[in-house]
Amino acid sequence: MSLDESRQKPHERLATVLAEDLDAVNALIRERMASKHAPRIPEVTAHLVEAGGKRLRPMLTLAAARLCGYDGADHVKLAATVEFIHTATLLHDDVVDESAKRRGRPTANLLWDNKSSVLVGDYLFARAFQLMTEPGNLRVLNILSDAAATIAEGEVLQLTAAQDLSTTEDIYLQVVRGKTAALFSAATEVGGVIAGRPDAEVQALFDYGDALGIAFQIVDDLLDYWGGDATGKNVGDDFRERKLTLPLIKAFAKADEAERAFWKRVIEKGDQREGDLETAMDLLNRHGALEATRIEALAWSAKAKAAMEGFPPSELRDLLIGVNDYVIERVS
Ligand code: IPE
Ligand code: IPE
Ligand code: MG
Ligand code: MG
Repeated sequence: MSLDESRQKPHERLATVLAEDLDAVNALIRERMASKHAPRIPEVTAHLVEAGGKRLRPMLTLAAARLCGYDGADHVKLAATVEFIHTATLLHDDVVDESAKRRGRPTANLLWDNKSSVLVGDYLFARAFQLMTEPGNLRVLNILSDAAATIAEGEVLQLTAAQDLSTTEDIYLQVVRGKTAALFSAATEVGGVIAGRPDAEVQALFDYGDALGIAFQIVDDLLDYWGGDATGKNVGDDFRERKLTLPLIKAFAKADEAERAFWKRVIEKGDQREGDLETAMDLLNRHGALEATRIEALAWSAKAKAAMEGFPPSELRDLLIGVNDYVIERVS
């Protein structure tokens, strides 16, 4: 490994190791995000796709397939499918969350409008479904189409849990498993399935993706309060959206009467004033909600690592473990 390579973050190193596959995925993404008939589609998709994104989920599919000794070409299609599902959910999510910034750029809903984001998101979902059928493998079709339904369920559950201070940590976990972890676990699982590996190995890949996805979203929810500019998104989006994420659930559980009144005003009633975000952050800090949330993320990360340790040592296995460790430390 060169000095430059040793300085790379685990997901960047994974991108280097998987460069050839990843180039094929990116080429396929560019090809399938086009449209001959509706110019708005490539405008919006190019805006999002050219901004980059970490390509974490497609790399998980590529890495899982390679780890399992797969030497065909269908993993590229499945990885592109996964990234299309991810991109479609981001387009929809930024409309629902009324977010203004994504991947360091203004969101599509801001640059164009909500209608364009929703419809182009639908187009990308449809493109994902076309792609996932192409390998002609009923089991991967099943896994990926289930994931698409589960993500939507998670987002709807989150919608109805928002503004509701009685939301429990169990409901939060259900939301996170749905909206985020379902795609991570599908991404890793299909890698094993396409390689024709035995059930126990496919299960281990699923478990890794599931736990990694949960840890990833918990950290994302922390970064929503403490991330700063590096996230490429606006700090405080979850607070403004009145989302009951883990830090808030933990702080509310410890709130005294005056604090409960504050949370009721800003979250239940939605009466938010200048300085409220700072007050909220102060309360989260005071009750150790940041630390408690981090500990939870660490526990999920340990589960992900345990699932990977069943595989014989190899560069790819160690990189997947490295990505998992990095998720806890990430700032963007
Ligand atoms: C953002 O995911 C959506 C969440 C599940 C928090 P990423 O942080 O992987 O987004 P990109 O693709 O790198 O922009
Ligand atoms: C992630 O949820 C979106 C999906 C997984 C569908 P968030 O709303 O928390 O993600 P960001 O913070 O906007 O990236
Ligand atoms: Mg959002
Ligand atoms: Mg978020």
